Amino acid sequence: SLAAYGLSPEHGFLPPELPLETLPDLYYAKWEAIAANLQPLLLSKRIRPVIDRLPLLSTEHLQTEAEWRRAYVILVFLLHSYVWGGERPAERIPPQLTVPLYQVCERLEVPPVATYAGVCLWNYKPIFPDEPADSLDNLACLQTFTGSLDEQWFYLVSVAIEAQGAPALPLMLQAIAAARAGNASQVTACLQRLAEIIDEITLLLQRLYENCDPHVFYHRIRPYLAGSKNMSEAGLPHGLLYDDGTNPPEYRQYGGGSNAQSSLIQFFDIVLGVEHRPTGVGPHDQKKSSSPSTSGTARPRHGFIHEMREYMPGSHRRFLQDVEAVANIRAYVDARRTDPALRIAYDACLSMLRNMRDKHIQIVSRYIIVQSRGNQQAPPSSMRPAAMNLATVVPTDGKKLRGTGGTALIPFLKQARDETGEPAIDAW
Ligand code: HEM
Ligand code: ALA
Repeated sequence: SLAAYGLSPEHGFLPPELPLETLPDLYYAKWEAIAANLQPLLLSKRIRPVIDRLPLLSTEHLQTEAEWRRAYVILVFLLHSYVWGGERPAERIPPQLTVPLYQVCERLEVPPVATYAGVCLWNYKPIFPDEPADSLDNLACLQTFTGSLDEQWFYLVSVAIEAQGAPALPLMLQAIAAARAGNASQVTACLQRLAEIIDEITLLLQRLYENCDPHVFYHRIRPYLAGSKNMSEAGLPHGLLYDDGTNPPEYRQYGGGSNAQSSLIQFFDIVLGVEHRPTGVGPHDQKKSSSPSTSGTARPRHGFIHEMREYMPGSHRRFLQDVEAVANIRAYVDARRTDPALRIAYDACLSMLRNMRDKHIQIVSRYIIVQSRGNQQAPPSSMRPAAMNLATVVPTDGKKLRGTGGTALIPFLKQARDETGEPAIDAW
């Protein structure tokens, strides 16, 4: 059942109970005080000394799941502020951050970096609690780096998408059961509804334009979401030195926050039988890429999208795995090609999902590609925090432009879009 994975039919991958606005135990007052003053601390460049002076707090006063999640949200916002909130990126993370962060991450089974879960799933509240908690016009963020409306909107659009998509979870589990029972009309009805849900999500995605300015996004917000993997040019050649008090501290590298870590979109792929390959591997190349010497036990090479599951909360990751093991819709539809309603409903889902990825590519070109070309007039100033210089550090010829998750942007996204159409019964 969904509850066993910390999921619910109403909220999907959003937490079953609303995120906590603050940790109730005053023991954590210092963390909360920094989180509440993040913008002034970044502006005054006092974030690092303030964090350096923190006492090392224990996680033993965290009780409920919601408290653990709140601690994770605070600690990853502090982490990324610490790294990107000075003139140059900070490479060494002090034990006051590292130690509790490691403990919280172990508990929630997430990596010690800002993920989609920390920035979106667990970071919102309803404006008015007596109105629907998940409609875009009743949502507010608990925490941002910049305090801007643009940053809030960027996260809240994602929250609204997760909420809109939540009913797809029970719906498609029902479809899987119906396919197993041979109930074609029920499978058809579920697929028809899923196509509508994906279309509604695409409409929400496009509402990003309403309140998130591409220039603000690219130059002010996005740099704070950067990770520590392949970040030489930004000044982190080895990654981050997480000092947990052991000698010597260890370097680690993680991808930055990305919506590619949304379990919902991967859930759509899995139930529909869409498979993603590593970037550059075509539909007929897969066999060549697995080494013949491993006689029959060749492990499939997984690409970026699959890798992003490691950045999801453990229970969400396991849910996707378990759904993958029972996903039968594609095979069921394929075996009943003579049922036009079923076939059309299935193909419509793929078509809607592909359309969503098309609209997303347009967003990426407006929010990243165009912005990366357009700002030559603003030279990096030593007066600005590293996060704001990062956008200009990234090469502007477009060649090495990378997503915060680490992909080569358009080639990756276009392939993912094209793969969405591949299982279609009636080739387009
Ligand atoms: C992946 C950019 C908003 C869903 C990506 C990637 C980039 C990107 C560059 C490639 C992975 C990486 O390297 O990080 C953006 C930008 C956005 C935005 C600039 C807004 C300003 C959204 C939203 C959604 C979304 C609101 C919600 C549906 C995805 C998904 C992937 C992805 C599902 C994985 C690739 C795929 O499944 O096709 N995004 N994104 N993105 N993004 Fe976005
Ligand atoms: N993944 C998004 C980007 O690369 C946030 O900007």
